[in-house]
Amino acid sequence: MTTQMLDPRALRDAFGAFLTGVTVVTTKDAEGKPIGFTANSFTSVSLDPPLLLVCLAKTSRNFQTLMSAQGFAVNILSENQKDISNTFARPVEDRFAAVDWREGPFGFPVFSGVAAWFDCAMHERIDAGDHVILIGSIQAFENSGRTGLGYARGGYFTPALTEKNLLANVEGSLSVGAIAERAGAILLVPDADGGLTLPFIDKAESESMEVLAPLFEAETGLSIRTGLLFSIYEDTKAGRQHIVYRALLGEGAPKAGQLFPLQQLPLEMIRDAAVRDMVKRYAQESALGNFGIYFGNQEKGRVHAVVQKG
Ligand SMILES: Cc1cc2nc3c(=O)[nH]c(=O)nc-3n(C[C@H](O)[C@H](O)[C@H](O)COP(=O)(O)O)c2cc1C
Repeated sequence: MTTQMLDPRALRDAFGAFLTGVTVVTTKDAEGKPIGFTANSFTSVSLDPPLLLVCLAKTSRNFQTLMSAQGFAVNILSENQKDISNTFARPVEDRFAAVDWREGPFGFPVFSGVAAWFDCAMHERIDAGDHVILIGSIQAFENSGRTGLGYARGGYFTPALTEKNLLANVEGSLSVGAIAERAGAILLVPDADGGLTLPFIDKAESESMEVLAPLFEAETGLSIRTGLLFSIYEDTKAGRQHIVYRALLGEGAPKAGQLFPLQQLPLEMIRDAAVRDMVKRYAQESALGNFGIYFGNQEKGRVHAVVQKG
């Protein structure tokens, strides 16, 4: 399609081919009342100084408020927050009645249960056609480790929930492991033979994936939030399915085991070859910011690429 005959509807659909997350941008009006709208035009901009951007339609009822606001917050919705996305995209009377929110450290509304939030001072507003680009200077942020809600071609998608639902129906019990990371280090726990391994728990066929977090917490003494799948393999000798998730580890010292930096993993201490290869792959892929999923047995299989922005 050439520039002479650009059909706005077709162009919008073509923009929709780009897979994004979903955010709710919030601020406060002159009377201190919270306002907010759903936006998927969020982009990280700069680490130093820390900046992000979001594009606001000039037709938005919140346009004037955001043109004079001192700042705004960006809430990155998590997978089970589709309803919040819909509420903040529709002309609902009191959108904030539908969410559990509080003021962020810099003063703009941040939501509970989100994947992450950023509380920002207004850095710059750039006029751009029928939108204005709002550049925020990040004053505070929080990253919960929850997987974000996805959006593509006008529909939502929920990558980790979908995986978990599929795997919840696997026949028989499962051994579920976690590569639990905190600040570039992963948790390794003692195995039965004096070596090290990943934390693994047993999930009975009748149990839902909801049991994972409390079981991992009991095992490690730390909060642990599982994200996307990293490996599925069958230990053909033991006849058992293994599923390993990437996970984010909470604060504190672990009850069992130790955190090891990804660059200095004690690979010789990991006796189980499948676990050793997996941990090695995790360290390599983490450096590239591009994780794949392994399918196979404990000896051979294939890694399928999953592209992810770091
Ligand atoms: C997934 C999704 C993404 C959206 N992204 C944007 C966006 O980036 N910028 C924008 O101005 N509106 C966006 N919208 C539309 C607004 O959320 C919608 O027009 C809303 O009603 C605006 O509310 P307001 O007029 O109260 O500001 C999006 C809607 C959805 C469902």
